[in-house]
Amino acid sequence: MSETLSVRADSDDLFDVLYDWDRVPVPRSLREFTARRANIGSPLDLSGVWRFRELLPFAPDDQIVTIGEGQTILRPSELVAKYVGMQPGRLYLQYEGLNPSGSFKDNGMTAAATHARMVGAKLAACASTGNTSASLAIYASATGLFRVVVFVGSGKIAYGKLSQALDYGALTLQIKGDFDDALSRVRQVSQEAGIYLCNSVNPFRLEGQKAIIYRVLEGLNWEIPDWIVVPGGNLGNSSAFGKALQELRQLGLIDRVPRLAVINAAGANTLFQLYEGQGLRWNDGAPDQALIDSYYADMDAKQRRAKTLASAIEINRPVNLKKCLRALAVCDGVVREVSDEDILDAKAQVGAGGFGCEPASAASVSGAKLLRAQGVIAPSDRVVCILTGHQLKDPNATVQYHAGGDGGHGAGRFRNAPVVVENDLAKILDVIEQALAV
Ligand code: F0G
Repeated sequence: MSETLSVRADSDDLFDVLYDWDRVPVPRSLREFTARRANIGSPLDLSGVWRFRELLPFAPDDQIVTIGEGQTILRPSELVAKYVGMQPGRLYLQYEGLNPSGSFKDNGMTAAATHARMVGAKLAACASTGNTSASLAIYASATGLFRVVVFVGSGKIAYGKLSQALDYGALTLQIKGDFDDALSRVRQVSQEAGIYLCNSVNPFRLEGQKAIIYRVLEGLNWEIPDWIVVPGGNLGNSSAFGKALQELRQLGLIDRVPRLAVINAAGANTLFQLYEGQGLRWNDGAPDQALIDSYYADMDAKQRRAKTLASAIEINRPVNLKKCLRALAVCDGVVREVSDEDILDAKAQVGAGGFGCEPASAASVSGAKLLRAQGVIAPSDRVVCILTGHQLKDPNATVQYHAGGDGGHGAGRFRNAPVVVENDLAKILDVIEQALAV
C-alpha cells in the first residue's frame, strides 16, 4: 500500500501522514469494521487499532506489529453522569486502561512500532511522564524487534509506570529536570545517534491513536456523540482525534463531527492560556507564531514550570500545539483548565462508578463537570469522556487522597480511608455495623 502514502511536513510541528484515499480500499460502511471483531483467530482483526487498518493504511499487513492493543470498552456510568450533572444514560466513559500496558499509548505505539520495523530500526527512544515509556518498553519486550531507551524526569514519574519500564527491560535514564527537558534532550540524542523516536512528534503514533475515535463511535453503534472530552498534555491524542474525524468526514463515512473539549491541569495550562486566554486559533493553517513565541519567552523569563499531581500531563511545552489547534478548528472545540483538587475528586467518583483511572485521566470528567456547570454542555447532550490510563498506574496519588494527610484520614471530598481495628471479632463487627449501618 506504500504508493498511497505521503508524509508531509509543512513545518516541523505539522508533520503529517497523508494518504491518497482514491487508492485505498476503504469499506463503504463503518459496520464492516465491526464485523471483523468475530475473527478471533486473526490478530489484525482482533486488534482494536488494526481492525480499522484501511483508515491508517501505511503498512503492509505482514509488517504490522500488534500485541492485542485496543480491547477497550465504552460504557455509560450513572454515578459519574450524576456527578457531572448529566441526564441518566448521557455520559459514557471510554476506558483505555484496558490496553496491554494500561494506557491509551498502546494505540499509537503499535503504529510507531510497525513503522520502526518497516524502516529497520533496532533502537527506539522516547521521553515520558511514564505511560509512553511503559508502552514503548512493552512493545520491545513483547516482540524483540528493537531495544529501548527511555528518558524520564527525575522524581516526575508515578511508580506504577516506572516499574513497567524496568520490568520490560528498557534502559531507563532519569535526567535532572521535567518532561519538557527530557523531551528536548531525547530529540537531540535521537537525531545525533540515529535512534527511532517514539514521542508523538512521530506522526505514525498519531495514526494509531485515531483508532480511539473509531472505537468510541463503534461503541455508540456508529452514532456521533455531541462531545468528546479528553485530557491535554503533549496534545497528541486531541490532534489524532481531529485528524480521525476530519478524514472520516472527508471519506463520507460520517456526516458531522462531535465537539471536542481538551482539558488541561491548571498547573500545566499552556493550551488553555493561549486558546481561551489569548485567542490563539488555527487560522486556516497560519496560527499566530509571534503569540506562541512571546508566551514561551515569558514562561522562560519567569522560570515557570509545569506543576500538577496529574503527573502524566505535567507538560508546559506541548509539541502538538498546532495540530491540536487544527483539531479544535475541525471540532468547534473548547479548552478548560481544572484544579488538582477537582481532578482527584473526579477520579474518586470514576472509581466509585465502577471504573478506575489515574489522575490525569479524570481531568476529562472534571472538565465535563465544569463545562456542564458553565452551560456549555447541556444535560441532555451525549458526552464521551476518555479515561486515558489505568487506576493502578499511580497508587500513591490514590492512597494519599483517601488516607494520607494528618491522622491518615485523607484530604479528599470522597475519601475512603482504611479503618484501623483490633483483630477482635466483637470490635470488627462493631466497626462494620457503624460504618455500613448493616
Ligand atoms: N493521560 C495520560 C494517562 C497520559 O499518560 C497522557 C500523556 C495524557 C493523558 C495526555 O495525552 O499528551 O496526547 O495530550 N502522557 C505522555 C507520556 C506525555 O509520556 O506518557 P497527550
